[in-house]
Amino acid sequence: MLNKKTRSISITSGKGGVGKSSLVANLGLYLSRKGKKVLIFDGDLGMANIDIMFGQKVQRNVMDLLSDQYSIDDVLTRLSQNLYLISGGSALPEIQGLNAYQKKCIIDQMSELEGLFDYLLIDTPPGIDENVRLLNSSAGEIFVVLTPEPASLTDAYALIKVLHLVQKEKNFKIICNQVRSEKDGIRLYEMLQKVCDQFLNINLEHIASIQRDQAFAQATRNQELVLNSAPEAPSAEQVRVLADKISGYGRLGNLKGSMQFFMGVNQVDL
Ligand SMILES: Nc1ncnc2c1ncn2[C@@H]1O[C@H](COP(=O)(O)OP(=O)(O)OP(=O)(O)O)[C@@H](O)[C@H]1O
Ligand SMILES: [Mg+2]
Repeated sequence: MLNKKTRSISITSGKGGVGKSSLVANLGLYLSRKGKKVLIFDGDLGMANIDIMFGQKVQRNVMDLLSDQYSIDDVLTRLSQNLYLISGGSALPEIQGLNAYQKKCIIDQMSELEGLFDYLLIDTPPGIDENVRLLNSSAGEIFVVLTPEPASLTDAYALIKVLHLVQKEKNFKIICNQVRSEKDGIRLYEMLQKVCDQFLNINLEHIASIQRDQAFAQATRNQELVLNSAPEAPSAEQVRVLADKISGYGRLGNLKGSMQFFMGVNQVDL
């Protein structure tokens, strides 16, 4: 998966519960239905939940690749046609802490997937800790999700700030989720833009506004995806528009590599 052909996108947030995992799952499903091969990397340490949205339960994660007992097939879960899931398990800092041999062991096995995927969607936990930072800096593109809650705005800013100052990230795409209308989404985006413009030298882009709707929330309660259970819902349509936009603009410039932590760039001497 990890070659230049794969576009890697992290979906992240400062505040929890904004809709990252559901968006990753819906985007992944839609892109895969359009014939793209998609791998979802579940980087959330807590309860893995993307598998549940597809009626599955993931048992293994990348750290299991260190054991002789398991191979890449054991850690890769097929969610549906063209759509696969892999769990990051116990966090990237742990992977960073492995010795060169152990890293090579993981990298070699991950490399078996090389070239197989068009997209790698990385679902991160919320916050600004090291794990979140590494997941984001290993992605080619960073999508920050925020909602109209005031704390979500300040936490999104805090995340962007730390990714800029610590990881030297400059480009962020913004998804305003759970908004009442496109107009409200733009307004929310502009609030974030204003504070970022004032204090940080970065590039922000509003990439989507997704309405808060009952069908979306109901889908979660039923352990389903809104794209399946209510494809006509506004939020489902807006997810499709977002996915089309992503595939439409293609790969931008000289992106960072896919999941550098696996490839070991600057981190491991193999
Ligand atoms: N557009 C929307 N309309 C209605 N409900 C939404 C919308 N987006 C997300 N939600 C709801 O918000 C809740 C949190 O969603 P989700 O678990 O995807 O967020 P998350 O950001 O991954 O959370 P965490 O930070 O805990 O990982 C779910 O109940 C989901 O249905
Ligand atoms: Mg989540």
